[in-house]
Amino acid sequence: MLKLLTFAIQSEYMLKVQNLYAGIEGKEILKGINLEIKPGEVHAIMGPNGSGKSTLSSVIAGNEDFEVSRGSIEMEGEDILELGADDRAHKGIFLSFQYPVEIPGVSVTNFIRTAINETRKAQGLDEMPAGEMLKTIREKAAMLGIRKDFLSRSLNEGFSGGEKKRNEIFQLMMMDPKLAILDETDSGLDIDALKIVAEGVNKFRNENNAVLLITHYQRLLDYIVPDFVHVLSDGKIIKSGDKNLALELEARGYDWVKEEA
Ligand SMILES: Nc1ncnc2c1ncn2[C@@H]1O[C@H](COP(=O)(O)OP(=O)(O)O)[C@@H](O)[C@H]1O
Ligand SMILES: [Mg+2]
Repeated sequence: MLKLLTFAIQSEYMLKVQNLYAGIEGKEILKGINLEIKPGEVHAIMGPNGSGKSTLSSVIAGNEDFEVSRGSIEMEGEDILELGADDRAHKGIFLSFQYPVEIPGVSVTNFIRTAINETRKAQGLDEMPAGEMLKTIREKAAMLGIRKDFLSRSLNEGFSGGEKKRNEIFQLMMMDPKLAILDETDSGLDIDALKIVAEGVNKFRNENNAVLLITHYQRLLDYIVPDFVHVLSDGKIIKSGDKNLALELEARGYDWVKEEA
């Protein structure tokens, strides 16, 4: 009976953002965002520079530099606004790093091993047995075409743009989050890096997880086909549609949306 009840109140949404207002140092950036993401869905957020795309991803992930003044953010039916970034990560929210840090002396493998075990600890689980960890690393690395020598390199030290992306996607696969937020504003995203990201996301996505893909570039959506596309402008979602909206934006620019809204 209790089990049934728990099931009944569980939200159908992975993420539900309602009337969200947020800003920094008294400056309002997000002005009433509504966004509902169900498991199995890929949502793309597009919009001109400065429209608040990165702010939205930071606020969902729990970056405390930003202040939420109104609205709510729920993850699987639970209000997460009071949770810090670490707790949100442990609940399964993953935010890719736009500007990855270099950590000399810490290898790609060691970094991911520590991250996974920290999460498990926070969830009350024991460390992942070494054998299982190794097996998972091998599996995911093979899936992404990552070679052994890459795994032992110092994190991000001397990495090319493509290698940084490969590492980011490797982290995503290893952490296996429920909600992956990828902020791809990086203008250094060349066609190779773009394909690495797309291939990784397509291998990652399944019916139990969700992806929030933030991108300035329509081109990425040629490779990752989103279920929904939202246009963000001046802190508000002014239009939502399917993948065709991205194509229309590519052809007609953002001003056209503003006129229609
Ligand atoms: N840390 C910050 N301090 C002050 N203003 C910020 C900060 N981060 C973002 N902003 C401002 O908020 C607005 C939205 O920025 P951002 O979310 O980065 O947009 P986008 O990712 O869509 O380019 C911009 O006007 C930007 O200058
Ligand atoms: Mg940005």
